[in-house]
This record gives sequence, C-alpha cells and structure tokens, in this order.
Amino acid sequence: MIDPQQAQPPGPERPARAGAGEAGGVPGRRIAALAGIGAIALAGAAAFAWTAGWIGPERLTSQRFLDTMEAGGPGHPGFRRAHPKGVCVSGRFFGTAAGRALSRAGAFAGPPVAVTGRLSIGGGDPLGDDAAARVRSLALQLGGRGETQWRMAMNSFPFLAVATPREFHRQVVANAPDPATGKPDPAAVAAFLAAHPRAQAFQAWAKSAPWSDSWANTQYNSVNAFYFIDADGQRRAVRWSMRPQAPFAALDAGARAAAGPDFLVTDLERRLASGPLRWDMVATLAGPGDAVDDPSRPWPEDREEVVVGVLELDAATPQATGACRDINFDPLVLPAGVAPSGDPILSARSSVYARSFNRRQREIALGDADQATHPEPRP
Ligand code: HEM
Repeated sequence: MIDPQQAQPPGPERPARAGAGEAGGVPGRRIAALAGIGAIALAGAAAFAWTAGWIGPERLTSQRFLDTMEAGGPGHPGFRRAHPKGVCVSGRFFGTAAGRALSRAGAFAGPPVAVTGRLSIGGGDPLGDDAAARVRSLALQLGGRGETQWRMAMNSFPFLAVATPREFHRQVVANAPDPATGKPDPAAVAAFLAAHPRAQAFQAWAKSAPWSDSWANTQYNSVNAFYFIDADGQRRAVRWSMRPQAPFAALDAGARAAAGPDFLVTDLERRLASGPLRWDMVATLAGPGDAVDDPSRPWPEDREEVVVGVLELDAATPQATGACRDINFDPLVLPAGVAPSGDPILSARSSVYARSFNRRQREIALGDADQATHPEPRP
C-alpha cells in the first residue's frame, strides 16, 4: 500500500540545467553541472528503491504489515492471518426495491443471489476461545462462481479505533504480546491510547457495549464507507450493516465464564437445525459533513436508513473443507453500482488481505497446513 507521506523521496532543491557547463565554458561550472546530473540520477535511483520498498525503514508495505501481525504469536500455516477461527456458511441474498433505487448492483436487481460466507471471531488463534472474543465478524461473497460478485468483510464494532493504515499498524505494534508475559505491554498500550483519542472512544465502546450470545443475533458493520450508484449515475455515500432478525440476548460476564471455547459454533448449528437465519441489510446514508473517508468517526444516529436487502443463511460447514476457506473476502471486489470511498484503509485492507491469502494458499499448496485443511486432527 502507498503511504502518501512516504511515497516521494526528497529531491534536489533546484534541478541543474543540462548543458549549463558548455554554455559558460568555465570548468568549475562544468563540474557543478556534472555533480547536478549525478544528483538527479541518484535521486531517481533512490526514488525507485524507495517505491520498491528497498529503503526507507518507515515505509508501510503489505509485507511489513503482515510480518508485524505474524510477529505477535506462533504461526498457524494455512490459516488467515487475522480472524483465523471461523466457520463457512451459505445461503442467499434478496435485494429490495429500495436497494434497487439506490444502487444498480446485481444483488439488488430482483432474483435472489447465491451467498458464500464466513462467520469468525477476532484475534489470531484458530483454536481461540469464543467466550473471550469481543469482536465477531461476517464475511460475504454475494454471487456464485461465474457470476458478478460482491465481497465484503464486516465486524461487530460500529467504528474503527484508527483513521489510517499507519495508525492501524501502530495499534498492532502496541498490542503485540510481550514475549516475557504473553500479553501486550501495558505501557505501550497506554502510550498508544494517549496519542490516539479515537482509540479511547473505541475502548469505551468495547468496555460498555453488551456482548450478544450468538453469531446469529450480532450486527455486522461495513465500518468503511462506500458509494452506492443508481441507474442514473447518482452517487450516495453509505455505510451498511447486517442487522439480525434474531432478537438480541446479552451474554453477561457470568455466562461468558461458563461458556465453552466453541460455544458460538455449537449455538450456530443448533439454530440452523431449526431453520434459516436472517439479517436485514441496512444502508445508512451519509448526511452533510459526515466523515466519509474516516472509519473512526461514526455518523450521527439520526441518519436515514434504508433496508436494501435480506441475507438468509441456512447451512454451515467447517472451514477446513468448506467453500469459504479459499476465498479472499477483499472489500474492494465490488460490482458496478458500488464504489469505494476515498478511505485509505480500504486499499490497505485489499493489499494486506491479498498477501495473507497468498501466504496461506502457498502453505496449503505445499502440504504444510494439516490443521487448516482437516476438520479433525489426523492420527
Ligand atoms: C488496515 C486495517 C486492516 C488490516 C491490516 C486488516 C487485516 C486483515 C487480514 C490480514 C485478514 C486475513 C485475510 C485473509 O487471509 O483472507 C483480515 C481478515 C478480516 N478482516 Fe481485516 N484488517 C483491517 C481492517 C478491517 C476492518 C475495518 C474490518 C471490518 C470492518 C475488517 C474485517 C475483517 C474480517 C471480517 C476478516 C475475516 C474475513 C474472512 O472471514 O475471510 N478488517 N483482516
């Protein structure tokens, strides 16, 4: 990903004019001209090396991002580098007339669209404890093989703690486990929070918002904004959420302590056995002055909301053998009728997910990912 602050190296203050030495015929000026040409050539080489990520310790590439994320714990070959614990789901999506009026995306066109998705928890452990996961997630691919697709990856938090990829990277560094304790260094976390007021707001949400007791009654949010484009080409900035039709039930601290490490999967299977699960897809339209390109800034509560579709999930399969395993839920795989906002985190996500996908697919292809490809451990 490109960091605009780092993309251009400082060049010479005043480029030398070619041939200046000849015009004057003075040896000193000739030497100065040659030195100038050399400086330009060097600056060009430096720019190339910088852009390629060969120099510049501060340059934030997708590789550096992932290396930082992987440094936080033991490797889990074949698994996603974030949200590795999850389950594949499938079903269909029904667009509404109101959705059609806002966007010409095929998902809203009328006929139901096939859905392949993944429910997951945040964190970095494919065997992580469901009861300790504050963040729950839903990734979707609307549209089947050979059809136009729309991919999205949503989280249960309503806004992000940071506004830019660089801040996100700092957050990952600050929260990296200290090898001595296995936990983040409290001083590093405190320093990060002190320097990032939006992260304090996020922490306040994480501490106060009730936990739901199921993937099925959790709301999943796009967090980043996009544009919906209608048949006449009119663009509207939106954020969307999958709002559960299943009633919310809180999981208090006592219930969390009693819940098993896989309670979300057990609960999902139990609910699916009695019928499909549904979420309304709700688009929130930006009002004047709303921060479209900054996912750390929530929009006011009174913004217009439109139910643009209904998501129906009716089956779940282990991710080791399920269709979701080999999908990259890249949030920039968008159909005509949906366009990215200028939020820099979107392009960062797209490039980091691609690199994560590449690493995990490589491990699977080379036969190094037994746990990620077999639902039960092999004898
Ligand atoms: C710069 C910011 C972010 C970075 C670097 C990042 C990084 C990652 C990585 C490396 C993965 C694994 C991808 C794969 O192997 O397929 C991932 C998965 C995921 N991320 Fe992010 N993420 C960021 C922001 C966000 C935001 C803002 C959201 C949602 C609002 C989000 C939601 C998800 C979800 C739901 C998954 C799991 C997708 C799946 O099931 O395949 N991420 N993220």
